[in-house]
Amino acid sequence: MAPSFRLTFFALSLIPSVFSWGFPYGTEKVRGVNLGGWLVLEPWITPSLFDNTGNANIVDEWTFASLQDRATATAALQNHWNTWITQADFQAIAAAGLNHVRLPIGYWAFEVGPGEPYIQGQLPYLQKAIQWATDAGLKVIVDLHGAPGSQNGFDNSGHRVSTPQWYTNNTNVQRTDAIIKNQIGPMVNNNYQNVPIVAPLNEPAGFNGANVLSVVKQYWFDSYGNLRYFPGTSTQTNLVVLIHDAFQPLSYWSGFMPTSGFQGVAMDTHIYTIFSVPEVQMTQAQHISTVCAKQSSLSTFDLWVIVGEWTPAATDCAKYLNGRGVGSRYDGSYSGSTRVGSCTGLTGSASSFSSSYKTFLRQFWEAQVISYEKGQGWIQWTWKAENADEWSYQAGLANGWIPQDPTDLEYKDVCG
Ligand SMILES: *[C@@H]1O[C@H](CO)[C@@H](O)[C@H](O)[C@H]1NC(C)=O
Repeated sequence: MAPSFRLTFFALSLIPSVFSWGFPYGTEKVRGVNLGGWLVLEPWITPSLFDNTGNANIVDEWTFASLQDRATATAALQNHWNTWITQADFQAIAAAGLNHVRLPIGYWAFEVGPGEPYIQGQLPYLQKAIQWATDAGLKVIVDLHGAPGSQNGFDNSGHRVSTPQWYTNNTNVQRTDAIIKNQIGPMVNNNYQNVPIVAPLNEPAGFNGANVLSVVKQYWFDSYGNLRYFPGTSTQTNLVVLIHDAFQPLSYWSGFMPTSGFQGVAMDTHIYTIFSVPEVQMTQAQHISTVCAKQSSLSTFDLWVIVGEWTPAATDCAKYLNGRGVGSRYDGSYSGSTRVGSCTGLTGSASSFSSSYKTFLRQFWEAQVISYEKGQGWIQWTWKAENADEWSYQAGLANGWIPQDPTDLEYKDVCG
């Protein structure tokens, strides 16, 4: 009797919920890459696009569009969109055993306000990307990476500014709500099998204080309404909403959007160990132990948690990583930093990497994969970079520090 009783009990616990997510979050691990530097420019991912302008004041997509001849800028963007990521990349990503791509896009692809210089034309590529991913069997996370006013002032929000004005200006928040509700949601909510999940805002600057965090929390509630319901109805969609931790520890968000009242919410956290002086001073072993120490918070958090950005890079050496014209902490060329050592052999082409460095990259990569799979999984930043192979999933595959099958681990005990 006992075995069959157990079987019945098991079957009861599998009664499907009313929602059918486009990916079995909570059961199957997310393994993916970001398609960084494509539909949102980043100087460090494609330094040539910026160097070719001949203008050192062009540091982000805003200035790319405003500080050079517009026809020249438009042609350069269109050439970039046509070539940086193609259908072959989606096929290679799927062949590498990954199941998701996270695709950053800026608000300006959807709507440009008065006085905003952005050049449009990204949407057909978003549509193509979704089709290519579908054909390759990959799930797409549409990720709003830049909001009006900028949500963090980073160049990767589109506009590098010292006082971001997304959260201080309610018009900007309302514009963002409208893009999620009227454009992104309707574009994907009947295609949830291929676009199961939407990230309504990347990396809002929660480090700027409680006022920012209260705007962010309200925006997550608004995004839940905007994405989890078909517009103007009380019928729920099958989309999952991927909110971001706004640079707060997961414990800060404990109990936010509890499953008793909210369904289909996942938390995105980004783990980097290179954007401060003490971090770039760490030894390779300390980088590894730092990421291994994330396991317990990832495994115990109350929402599905996905590490939506991380890297095997253990320095900030990549050219323009801290911004065009800004140096690196590791070699002391960043204002206020203390030199740790030379960047030579730690960034650029893998042909300059020593075999011991490549072994470390593999160990650090595996430590992160093992640790982040204690949560719901991971999405590496980024698929490719012009001249920073330590960040590139594609270069890792080609040079052996990333396995062709992401479950094929050589250092299973790297976290001890
Ligand atoms: C708020 O942002 C809008 C653009 O979204 C702009 O037109 C308006 O001037 C801004 N308001 C303030 C007070 O800066």
